[in-house]
Amino acid sequence: MIEKINNYLEEAKEFVATSLDEIETFRIQFMGKKGIINDLFSEFKNVPRENKKDVGQKLNELKVSIQEKINSLKENLGDKSEDNSDIDMSLPGDPLKQGTRHPISIVRNEIIDIFKRLGFTISEGPEIEDDWHVFSALNFPEEHPARDMQDTFFIEKNPDILLRTHTSSVQVRIMENTHPPIRTISPGRVFRNEAISARAHCIFHQVEGLYIDENVSFADLKQTLLYFAKEMFGEKTEIRLRPSYFPFTEPSAEMDVACNICGGKGCNVCKYTGWLEILGCGMVDPNVLDSCGIDSKKYTGFAFGMGIERITMLKYGIKDLRLYFENDVRFLDQFKSVL
Ligand code: DAH
Repeated sequence: MIEKINNYLEEAKEFVATSLDEIETFRIQFMGKKGIINDLFSEFKNVPRENKKDVGQKLNELKVSIQEKINSLKENLGDKSEDNSDIDMSLPGDPLKQGTRHPISIVRNEIIDIFKRLGFTISEGPEIEDDWHVFSALNFPEEHPARDMQDTFFIEKNPDILLRTHTSSVQVRIMENTHPPIRTISPGRVFRNEAISARAHCIFHQVEGLYIDENVSFADLKQTLLYFAKEMFGEKTEIRLRPSYFPFTEPSAEMDVACNICGGKGCNVCKYTGWLEILGCGMVDPNVLDSCGIDSKKYTGFAFGMGIERITMLKYGIKDLRLYFENDVRFLDQFKSVL
């Protein structure tokens, strides 16, 4: 009987299976109710007593090794089926999800490109500023409302330090540190103590422009801004300048572009005026030039400042400022094709 069992052991060892069905047949052949192992156990009753120990051990060895064989056959087949049948290696891989540029970055880059073509350099200044660079050097009177806690974020421990409310502060730094001719734009983040709504936010972005040289005139300002508007909103874009007031420019103006939504006919975006305000500008006030160490008798200059959020709203028809900060991919994905 020992020899018979050894033969079965040998047979089992050499057995190979290519499917689960074949393994099942093998299992039934050995372990089934009427299988080999049960048969052997029946035969075991007739084994002479002196041989029982050896035959019993051999029989158990067969039982265990059949079970192990079944397990290992199943395992091998499982591995192979994962490799071969479930995965189609010829399929293209899942594409990596690409991010998109934020609309504010897209428009900021576009503004930079336009002014670069006119020979403007790019400059930057700190977001945490002092009173001098944000207000005093820019000719803000002592009692100006912008100096009020309601409008500006001050640092509690030192009210001379504040978050800049406009990028005009960079003008001051440039004028203090370089000599004319100066031709620069300064993009950056600004902060105001505003309640957040569809039309206002406490953080937004501006681009400041500054041009200082001998004989710079208002005509230069107007032509520069007309070029900018046409490049940004299209060749047919018209502009108009309205007299205004800023402490740091004299004369000052605000610039409107013809509403690109209704084509100037009047709609709810332009409040039925046909015009949309996009920036403030003017000739740099001689007081500001002198405060910053530039001889106002020799040099004149123009400056302008625009909000990037506002230009982006007009360019892409975005109606709510809060969308810029929510980082909702459904919003951002719409700018995929723009670089
Ligand atoms: N700083 C102004 C603001 O934040 C914008 C501005 C207006 C900038 C006129 C200028 C300018 O340089 O000349 O509203």
